[in-house]
Amino acid sequence: MKKKIEIILDGQRIRVDEGKSTLDAALENNIYIPHLCFRPGFDAFGACRLCLVETSDGRLVTACETPAEDGMDVISDSDRLDRIRKVTASLLIKGHVGDCLKCPESGECKLEAVSSYLGINDENLAKLREFKIDDSIDDSNPFFLKDNGKCILCGLCVQSCDTIGVNAIDFTFRGAKTKISTFMDKPLMDSICVSCGECVETCPVGALVKKSEKPSREVKTVCPYCGVGCGIYLGIRGD
Ligand code: SF4
Ligand code: FES
Repeated sequence: MKKKIEIILDGQRIRVDEGKSTLDAALENNIYIPHLCFRPGFDAFGACRLCLVETSDGRLVTACETPAEDGMDVISDSDRLDRIRKVTASLLIKGHVGDCLKCPESGECKLEAVSSYLGINDENLAKLREFKIDDSIDDSNPFFLKDNGKCILCGLCVQSCDTIGVNAIDFTFRGAKTKISTFMDKPLMDSICVSCGECVETCPVGALVKKSEKPSREVKTVCPYCGVGCGIYLGIRGD
């Protein structure tokens, strides 16, 4: 059995197996720290910077990359952290183009969930949207599509492809042009991709989605009134 250690998180003593990260410690004790590029079982990558916590000497460190050490005292919830996370999430949203209401991942998107947790509302989300250098969609695979405009460069798909030993995708290009793509940026079907779908399962946003995915939340209505689809005008709903 693994040795247990104790840390103080937001003034609360919590226990976790030795060797686990601060984020593991929090999540295993039902304390939520916003995070997008970490998934249990995967290596911490530190890409999204949302899981920042404050150490007792005022340093900011990523909880996913910081091992929990016996006696350490960290804060995950403060005005300072909230301000930083809002800016960080806003930058991620700026690089995540597309209409969220029409996205098959809508309702399950982790960026949407984090934005809601941080109080970045839909109106502000729309204002934050910017262009992306490459917002192309790779539709070549019969089972899933890759929407480069929605990718937040978390790297989880790269790790999952690496884990199964295929290595079909990786970070390519540099700076603002950085993207996830195949060797020589070929369409997925012209690459060594085996269509296993592991990357689709790990993607926290709608950048890799099954083509058979449930339809979007887009409202289909024949109502001539405003198009929202409430049903009141047509007498379908009476409230
Ligand atoms: Fe992350 Fe999805 Fe982009 Fe891959 S495609 S880096 S899983 S957001
Ligand atoms: Fe820690 Fe993304 S979850 S940096």
